[in-house]
Amino acid sequence: MATVLSQSAVPLLLLAAAALLPLLAGADEASTCQAVLKEFHTFNEKEAVPYGGDNMVYFLHVPRTAGRTFHSCLLKQGTPPSQRCPKSYDHLRIDVHVPACRLLSSHDDFSVVQQLPPGTAVVTQLREPLDRFLSAYEFAIEGLRRAQGARAQQGLRGRGPGTGDVSGSVAAVVAARQVNKTRKKPPKPGRTLTDEVWPWSHLVPFFLQDMRARLDVLSSRPRDPAGHWVEYSTKEGRPYYYNKMRNVSRWELTEAEKPRLLPPLNPYDNDLVMPLAEFVHHPIAKELLHNGEAFQVLGLTNYSHWPKAEQLRHCARSNPAVADELKAFALQRLRTFSHVGTTDQLFPSVESCAASLGLPLDGHAYQGGGEVRGRRAAAGVCDRRFLCARQHMNNVRFGF
Ligand SMILES: *[C@@H]1O[C@H](CO)[C@@H](O)[C@H](O)[C@H]1NC(C)=O
Ligand SMILES: *[C@@H]1O[C@H](CO)[C@@H](O)[C@H](O)[C@H]1NC(C)=O
Ligand SMILES: *[C@@H]1O[C@H](CO)[C@@H](O)[C@H](O)[C@H]1NC(C)=O
Repeated sequence: MATVLSQSAVPLLLLAAAALLPLLAGADEASTCQAVLKEFHTFNEKEAVPYGGDNMVYFLHVPRTAGRTFHSCLLKQGTPPSQRCPKSYDHLRIDVHVPACRLLSSHDDFSVVQQLPPGTAVVTQLREPLDRFLSAYEFAIEGLRRAQGARAQQGLRGRGPGTGDVSGSVAAVVAARQVNKTRKKPPKPGRTLTDEVWPWSHLVPFFLQDMRARLDVLSSRPRDPAGHWVEYSTKEGRPYYYNKMRNVSRWELTEAEKPRLLPPLNPYDNDLVMPLAEFVHHPIAKELLHNGEAFQVLGLTNYSHWPKAEQLRHCARSNPAVADELKAFALQRLRTFSHVGTTDQLFPSVESCAASLGLPLDGHAYQGGGEVRGRRAAAGVCDRRFLCARQHMNNVRFGF
């Protein structure tokens, strides 16, 4: 096992027993929790086994850990198409088209291993929890924009004439019109929409619904006929000011106009979407994101294949003894993985994983139906360094 689990990664798994204020758990609850814990151990019949060259590899893809890059640029390119399992990000597909598949990646939690062939090796990437949370917030808002289409996207960003003037509620109305528009284009065949993938399948609709309520408030505010100025820039990068209410633009604002210039939209705290500070404490964030990595390694997420996951998560939050036991179990389980990397050390993690799985970085790179020639696989996702490593075999060393 080659593990890049650095010191900084260890706190990822701390279930933060101290922070999980014990409720006044009665003896009843404690014994119920102990009983559920026992069932949990019984459920976990299969554990990860070391990679031995031909067993199945499951990539436990924790959301927002650069897992897509990791999967597309390393694991997938190193695995011939005939050995890749069917895409399973929206739901698990096993033994359908590729009975002997050897590479599976998904956002499932560890509970899925119980449904995989015995002897499956597991690899994963972890990330500093605060970074991951922030990234999840940003990604959910991105999803909101995708769900709304391009114009509202500009409205949210507060850029582009016709959408600015947030506090004057014009942008709100523009965005509101867009909110009800659903995606018209069907996805390309074989592609999974991110918004249908857990946890975005819960988070994006959540933010959308919350936004509708905010927009109602904004659009009911009286409009100020003097409007507000919003700074934009031309394609060439020259700044200018636009007043949506008055439909006027200017290169410079007068002293009298300057007080009506809106500050840039703060992406983490604005009138249109739930601010980060509010989201952090929202029950849905607790359900889907807090301690998410630990719960995913444990197989106890909201997406678990084990029916009692929710109950045991509750126990972990309310009962420090259960939290401690689960934490120890998660750490012990991580030690059985064939690779554990960290997002903040992506390239060393890639090297380490490649070594663990016998995927030499100067080996063949496979795309869709065959071997990649040239740089076609770039697809905007893979860092040049991956491509150099896997595609330009002799010339360029994998380095950073
Ligand atoms: C969007 O749809 C909701 C319910 O479907 C409706 O109440 C609301 O008025 C609509 N908003 C706009 C701006 O059309
Ligand atoms: C804003 O003004 C431009 C010309 O300056 C005009 O073409 C456009 O139709 C106006 N837009 C609105 C919404 O009145
Ligand atoms: C997962 O969380 C979402 C959002 O809180 C919730 O709607 C859903 O019912 C949960 N699913 C399970 C299986 O607990």
